[in-house]
Amino acid sequence: MNKLKYEKLLKQKKIKPITCLTAYTISIAKILDGKVDLILVGDSLGTVLYGMKNTRQTTLQMMKEHGKAVVNNVKKSATIIDMPYNSYQNKKQALKNAKEIIKYTKVDLIKLETDEKKIKIVKHLTKNKINVVSHVGVTPQKYSNFNKIKIVGKNNKESQSLITLAKNLEKAGSKFIVLECMKQSVAKKITNLLKIPTIGIGASKYCDGQVLVINDLLNLNSEQKKPKFVKKYINLEKIISTAVKKFTTDVLKKRYPSKKYSYF
Ligand code: KIV
Repeated sequence: MNKLKYEKLLKQKKIKPITCLTAYTISIAKILDGKVDLILVGDSLGTVLYGMKNTRQTTLQMMKEHGKAVVNNVKKSATIIDMPYNSYQNKKQALKNAKEIIKYTKVDLIKLETDEKKIKIVKHLTKNKINVVSHVGVTPQKYSNFNKIKIVGKNNKESQSLITLAKNLEKAGSKFIVLECMKQSVAKKITNLLKIPTIGIGASKYCDGQVLVINDLLNLNSEQKKPKFVKKYINLEKIISTAVKKFTTDVLKKRYPSKKYSYF
């Protein structure tokens, strides 16, 4: 079974859009494998799986354990693991933690939320042969309250600094750049200026690829307020509820387990 290579995805730029979804568990990882190009173990797992208020509480240990479970069960797609909040504050700490994640999980790429101050960290990790995905625009680790998130790139100054940041992150060695919640025109400019692929989330069709949180796309956790860019492709919550109701009725009516499901 051939694992998807970075060089192939790089050649896809401007030819074929790149697909990426998050996975935090073995069952989802197995379903996604080979159906999307990239599988991301995002630090969103803290909010999505553990009900945390923000991604700042997601720990390195959580990323390592969920990362290992996912990567171990992916044979075809390329894999990415997020570095959690405060785990890459300086070059030395970033390299130590990135190496620890890679050694424990065997993941292909590591993702960091970046700003101007983090460029030197991307450069340092790249120099040490770590494949880095940079994440710019709205970077959720900056927010303790997600209700305060607003799209970026709305004025000239902000769009110019995003473009400069993206160019510098490419120069620093990033393999991909995730653009989150960004005005369409800025995402388009960045995508056209860079040689590496951009992966958008709320950043328009002009990106080289798209990423979504799997639970959003499946409409699980429906009580959580979702951003405008989320497209729900199925109501899995409804499907699961129907199955659970059927099970409950069967048990109450003593229809389950019937002969077929019993040992004699
Ligand atoms: O943590 C996450 O899931 C992400 C996204 C880009 C979806 O960073």
